[in-house]
Amino acid sequence: MILLADDEPAFQRLTAQWLRSLGHDVETVGDGDAARAAFARLPADVVLLDLAMPPHHAPEAGLALIPAFAPAPVVVMTGHADHALALKAIEAGAWDFLAKPVDPDMLQVVVARAVERARLAREVAQLKAQSVGSEDMGLAGSSPQMTALRDLVRRVAPTPLPVLVLGPSGTGKELVARALHQASPRAARPLVPIHCGAVPADLLESELFGHLKGSFTGAHADRPGLVETASGGTLFLDEIGEMPAAMQVKLLRFLADGTYQPVGARAMRKADVRVVAATHRDLQAAVADGSFREDLYYRLRGVVLRTPSLDERPGDVPLLAALFLRRAAQGEARFTPDALTWLTARRWPGNVRELRAAVECAAALAPRGAAGIAIAAQDLAFATGEAIAAPGAPPAVQPPQSLEAEIAALERLRITEALERTGHNHTHAARELGLSRVGLLKKMDRMGLR
Ligand SMILES: Nc1ncnc2c1ncn2[C@@H]1O[C@H](COP(=O)(O)OP(=O)(O)OP(=O)(O)O)[C@@H](O)[C@H]1O
Ligand SMILES: [Mg+2]
Repeated sequence: MILLADDEPAFQRLTAQWLRSLGHDVETVGDGDAARAAFARLPADVVLLDLAMPPHHAPEAGLALIPAFAPAPVVVMTGHADHALALKAIEAGAWDFLAKPVDPDMLQVVVARAVERARLAREVAQLKAQSVGSEDMGLAGSSPQMTALRDLVRRVAPTPLPVLVLGPSGTGKELVARALHQASPRAARPLVPIHCGAVPADLLESELFGHLKGSFTGAHADRPGLVETASGGTLFLDEIGEMPAAMQVKLLRFLADGTYQPVGARAMRKADVRVVAATHRDLQAAVADGSFREDLYYRLRGVVLRTPSLDERPGDVPLLAALFLRRAAQGEARFTPDALTWLTARRWPGNVRELRAAVECAAALAPRGAAGIAIAAQDLAFATGEAIAAPGAPPAVQPPQSLEAEIAALERLRITEALERTGHNHTHAARELGLSRVGLLKKMDRMGLR
């Protein structure tokens, strides 16, 4: 809809009539204050603004009004063909201008452009909102490493390239595989995981490629393989480093041209799958010692994505802990400041998986008070097997804990939570925390959160 602000009744009426005849919704007002009020109330896409209106009638007052209508495009109307004023209006943020007397054809063109621009802006905002919703793709973390990883996942997902996900145990390799699938054009088709180390070597081939009835003892019926099930979707070869040598050759052929032979079949079949493989092992070393085929290694690594250990990104620990606590606890739950210090001070050799298990265990065992549960360092120490005292028992010897450390831990938690809640919108997070944006960024820098 178009908001028309002009103090001349005749001009207002005729212009509104003309715009309505062109199919636009029009709302009219006669002065600046009314324009502002109407804009706040109505979903105006475009504002047509006379620069000389009551109470001031001075064009400068009209100019000062322009930013009030952001983000709607403002088309200013100047009384006389005053080009200097029109220029000032553009400088003040106006989208376009019309000289009075307004030529109806000109009005039609300018308004159509402004409406189109408003529509585009709306579309962009919608897309942004959608992408914020799926922003972390299940891969939480505000460290530069995780931000870069999410960015890569987003860029690689739409391509058909095979992906090799490398990283220590418990760092989210499987999550990355799922995110790749979800963000790909194959998302509507299945993601089929297979743990290459968990299937006995002699069954792996039939598991992957299927078999025909009677092809071996116990093959009572034809059975499709996982590549067929995954057709059109993604095949996730987990722990690829464990794949037996005999299977590596067959997998290589499949990766080369998409063809495979079910066990006991004569004819080759074809399947269209995107392959994502993962391992915590050092594949290059495996290639060097001859336990992993070099040609297969290069086939698999269309793109290599690395999931960082928690050691490399300690700043993510409080955020992940808060996330897991929120998921695990019904109702209110929080960490005491000493718990936060404990979480960040501890090393997590089992990475995110270990952190998650510790938080879930502590959340399940922590005593529930009137204000929900509060998880203390003691509860976490118990959950990780480092303390033998039952949770809820009075802490034995408290490690000396400086006030400063407690405050720092609390500050970090509040900031990471605000960032997560606002989808990493620094402006919104700063507002929520009562900080200036610059102040927030400085703190984030200091904490290594950027
Ligand atoms: N960035 C993350 N955000 C949220 N949860 C995560 C993240 N990374 C890992 N997790 C969680 O940690 C656990 C381990 O993740 P995942 O199974 O993907 O690790 P992995 O790298 O495949 O480990 P492994 O090498 O042992 O198979 C899962 O519960 C997963 O949901
Ligand atoms: Mg895994």
